[in-house]
Amino acid sequence: MKRVLVTGASGMLGSQLLLDAPVGCVVVGTDLRPDAPVHVPGVDLADPAAVRALFEAHGPFDAVLHCAAWTAVDLAEEKVAEARRANATACEVLASACARAGARLVAVSTDFVFDGSATSPYAHDAPTSPVSVYGLTKLEGEQAILRLHGGGSAIARTQWLYGPRGRHFPGTMLALAKDKKQLKVVDDQIGSPTSTLELSPALWDLARSRETGVFHAACEGEASWFEFACETFHLAGVAGLEVSPCTTAEFPRPARRPAYSTLDCSRLAKLRGKPMAHWRDALARYIKET
Ligand SMILES: NC(=O)c1ccc[n+]([C@@H]2O[C@H](COP(=O)([O-])OP(=O)(O)OC[C@H]3O[C@@H](n4cnc5c(N)ncnc54)[C@H](OP(=O)(O)O)[C@@H]3O)[C@@H](O)[C@H]2O)c1
Repeated sequence: MKRVLVTGASGMLGSQLLLDAPVGCVVVGTDLRPDAPVHVPGVDLADPAAVRALFEAHGPFDAVLHCAAWTAVDLAEEKVAEARRANATACEVLASACARAGARLVAVSTDFVFDGSATSPYAHDAPTSPVSVYGLTKLEGEQAILRLHGGGSAIARTQWLYGPRGRHFPGTMLALAKDKKQLKVVDDQIGSPTSTLELSPALWDLARSRETGVFHAACEGEASWFEFACETFHLAGVAGLEVSPCTTAEFPRPARRPAYSTLDCSRLAKLRGKPMAHWRDALARYIKET
């Protein structure tokens, strides 16, 4: 791969992909905001003319790593059109552009395509059934990509992301720990906390491969948000804070979340010859390095 486009390049995941670009590969980062600190700011990927101009001026690209999305899960419940534009229409436009240009497309998706009623990890080909606008529009994006560029694309579903930049759960917990003596954290949602430091190299491997279709890409093991919080406090050396478990019902949010959404990542592990790190090891690395 000589030239790769990364979308959502100022976001939590995209910014890590820029840092992890393989030696000798020219990476062009783009994002929506006109002042985004990327190579090509101010590009709305749902606008076909803007994407055509991006490919003409900055291509040809061997691959596109697509991280741009509407990620405000609760706000998506009221801003349905905006969420669909970012999560579904942008995938359609990008998939068509990649198909025309013969570029490989690796698009990041989510565990929210599942309803969370499973009791063991979701296989990459398990039936989908989103219970939120965010999950539904991300699934529409996946489907558009597979329809328009199925022979040249891979979908990487991930979950519970955190990393050195952006807003995320461990960051919020550590900020709350500064002011509070007591904290309640949801203990009846289970998933796999996933560090962008671990996901980014996996996505680069996917970009280099020729495999197509859906992959699950998350750290190994599973936890509740409560366990994730406790491990974060333990690793960060937070003392004097009383953390107790609570239920989802005690902490109502506009968007429904899957109760259980651990992903079976064996297809990706086979492709890479190894699984991603266990979430506890990945969190320890993150706390140590940031
Ligand atoms: N965060 C998680 O826990 C999580 C879990 C599972 C999957 N994912 C998926 O992982 C990917 C990366 O997530 P992230 O947390 O790194 O996201 P992020 O930090 O919110 O970054 C996404 C970026 O995409 C931009 N964007 C939105 N609409 C756009 C459009 N129409 N055209 C161009 N750019 C647009 C956003 O710009 P604005 O900020 O200006 O809107 C933002 O800079 C996404 O596909 C997300 O769905 C995330």
